[in-house]
Amino acid sequence: MNNNIIEVKDKKFAISIPENKILAEVKRVASQINHDFQGQHPIFLAVLNGSFIFAADLLREVDLPCEISFVRLASYEGMGTTGEIREIMGLNVDVTGRPVIVVEDIVDTGLTMAHMLETLKRHNPSSISICTLLLKPGKLQVNLDIRYCCMQIPNDFIVGYGLDYDGFGRNTRDIYTLVEDKQRNMKNIIIFGAPGSGKGTYSDAIVEKYGMNHISTGDTLRNEIKNGTEVGRVAKGLIDKGQLIPDDLMIQILAKTYDSLPQGRGVIFDGFPRTIAQAEALKQMLAERGHDMGIAIDLVVEEDVLMERLLRRAQIEGRADDNEATIKQRFEVYHSKTEPILKWFEKEGMLNVVRWADTPNKEAMIESIFQLIDAKNA
Ligand code: IMP
Ligand code: MG
Repeated sequence: MNNNIIEVKDKKFAISIPENKILAEVKRVASQINHDFQGQHPIFLAVLNGSFIFAADLLREVDLPCEISFVRLASYEGMGTTGEIREIMGLNVDVTGRPVIVVEDIVDTGLTMAHMLETLKRHNPSSISICTLLLKPGKLQVNLDIRYCCMQIPNDFIVGYGLDYDGFGRNTRDIYTLVEDKQRNMKNIIIFGAPGSGKGTYSDAIVEKYGMNHISTGDTLRNEIKNGTEVGRVAKGLIDKGQLIPDDLMIQILAKTYDSLPQGRGVIFDGFPRTIAQAEALKQMLAERGHDMGIAIDLVVEEDVLMERLLRRAQIEGRADDNEATIKQRFEVYHSKTEPILKWFEKEGMLNVVRWADTPNKEAMIESIFQLIDAKNA
């Protein structure tokens, strides 16, 4: 649940580009280079430190006869009339008359790369091409002809796969984005809606964007049982006898999970509370920890849409016990037992409604939910 978040020194970062995506893009760019430099012997100049992992992966996909050198840009203050003079350190190959490919981890403002090009030109290579793993187009301040770019990213600060925060964080396979301080005190969210309304799907999207914790009561229960914990054994005994888990046991299990999660990132409660008694108990459990219920998001979806989704899901997942009659029954239970909590949320001043009918597509729903979360956390 939480390995999507890492800590580097004093900051938290959430996974944003997984290794397989990075490697696929590196491969794509390498084959462009293989194609463009056929019959030539380019020299790769990898700019240290950040590009060491990218360069290693890239070079292993390049099948041209080539050389690589690792360089660094050093600046010396106050010599001569130009003020700052920059020199390339470690350029121990003669690039005169040869095609050069500069390998960078990231082009941000582009100032580093501009200096690199300027200095490199004095060594008279036959051509200079830029190859960067990442580009932040929103930060670029200079005009650069970037011939090879694996991925463009937003302006956020990232670490991993060679990139660092204050020297640390270079040694991960995936790339991670800084979780802003503002997002480190996220309000809790209770995601609410009938079966098939998309609670799991939207929870995943929220987790991915905000790095929030996600508690699904179903998953939590199954985990406790699988791990054979004390509460897990009690729960299993009840389930095996066909009995429901009583509210106080459910709250006990939730409290244990809640306390094990990193603080400050907020929790999405998915599948809980299902009754007003559970809502009251949750409120008390959080109050004992000095925490707030946060916001409730009610996903309103028309019943015919839900029915169609659930029947399709039953077909795909081969759930034989999901048919029109049993699904209708679940809707009935939802209306009679669960839906009354909406009034309770309203009374608590925490109810927010997002309607499928207003924007009947998944991306637009996710966007509305993000806007709501941003507004509530502003
Ligand atoms: P530029 O001169 O602004 O293009 O900055 C380039 C250098 O800044 C890169 O080589 C990195 O060392 C560093 N940098 C820029 N953005 C990031 C980031 O998001 N994470 C880590 N380092 C970065
Ligand atoms: Mg760098």
